[in-house]
Amino acid sequence: MPEPDSPLRQAPDSLMLTGFWYRALPADRVHRNQLHKCMLLEIPLVIGRDRAGRPFALRDACPHRGMPLHCGKFDGENVECSYHGWQFDAHNGQCQVIPSLTADQNLKVDRIYAGSYPCEEQDGFVWVYIPEPSPQAAGFSKPEEAPEAAPTIEKFGGKYKLAYLTADMPVSIDHGIIGLMDPAHGPFVHQAWWWRSRHSIHEKTKNFEPIPNGFRMSAHTPSSNSAPYKLLRLYAEAGSTTTTIDFVLPNLRRETIRAGRYWFSSLTTVTPITRNQCRIDVVAAWNIFRWMPFGPELLKFVFAKFVEQDRRTMELQAEGLKHNPHLMLIDDADRPAKWYFQLKAAHLEAKRTGGEMKHPMAGPVTLRWRS
Ligand code: FES
Ligand SMILES: [Fe+2]
Repeated sequence: MPEPDSPLRQAPDSLMLTGFWYRALPADRVHRNQLHKCMLLEIPLVIGRDRAGRPFALRDACPHRGMPLHCGKFDGENVECSYHGWQFDAHNGQCQVIPSLTADQNLKVDRIYAGSYPCEEQDGFVWVYIPEPSPQAAGFSKPEEAPEAAPTIEKFGGKYKLAYLTADMPVSIDHGIIGLMDPAHGPFVHQAWWWRSRHSIHEKTKNFEPIPNGFRMSAHTPSSNSAPYKLLRLYAEAGSTTTTIDFVLPNLRRETIRAGRYWFSSLTTVTPITRNQCRIDVVAAWNIFRWMPFGPELLKFVFAKFVEQDRRTMELQAEGLKHNPHLMLIDDADRPAKWYFQLKAAHLEAKRTGGEMKHPMAGPVTLRWRS
């Protein structure tokens, strides 16, 4: 039994959660009448945009003999397989044409489906809903519907800028996520003369509270750790600035900073690509620098630097993880990571039993660490 203060050994299982929306590709990389390869949760997908600009996602395998559909042709409506020319409706995967059939052969073409996934464009990304795997009659199952719309970035007014950053991380989804919520690496990984040094390390106290499927670092006046905060401070009284950071299963981190009528809001996701690879996408919306010449560039520069430092760190960490070392999580700095694993376990348990998810946090918690 671990003592309350002893390190808790907990091996990430890198299990990828189905039944959620995931970011697939930046919307500006998905062009009309073109087919793009993409992988999510080890599922190969082909993503495109129809004639009207509406995105779609199909499984990248022809239900006939498995040819990747991205090798085929797309006329803005139907995807044609490059092997035997079967054609599928891009949005629901329903087979339209089998060129080899003769007039008197009555195979019911419209009962055949290429795998298809709910797909939406939201805040500059194409999102794909990955349903729970169900026993499917391969090639004959109709597409599933998503129970809710894809996640959006919270905005506090109609006029804002939007920008994104994306980086591949050669680690499992679990390491990607706990790396994202880990406060203790800041002074060591994110050093820069214009930002902070390891000598700026100091004790911090943060309040957390449970929220559905996740936890919130409660609204507080930020100390000095958040990039946009340093910039926002130029615009408003330090005391009037509040920030909240939420983590919600399976992979969403929302940060909201408000200073009077100015706001900055971001939605960061860590998306499982394969068991050993994930991708971090940061999308931010803000109304602060719209008139300031280099504002957005400055913000993007700061974020790009951060994300690159994290990416480089995880690349090195992946070396160390190759041979399955024992790992530990300690209090309080790794407590958010522990909550992540507990939330994930609770979610899976609720799915298994069909009952309500039992939230691992009973109420508000105050954590202290030095960073
Ligand atoms: S493999 Fe696609 S049409 Fe035959
Ligand atoms: Fe980081």
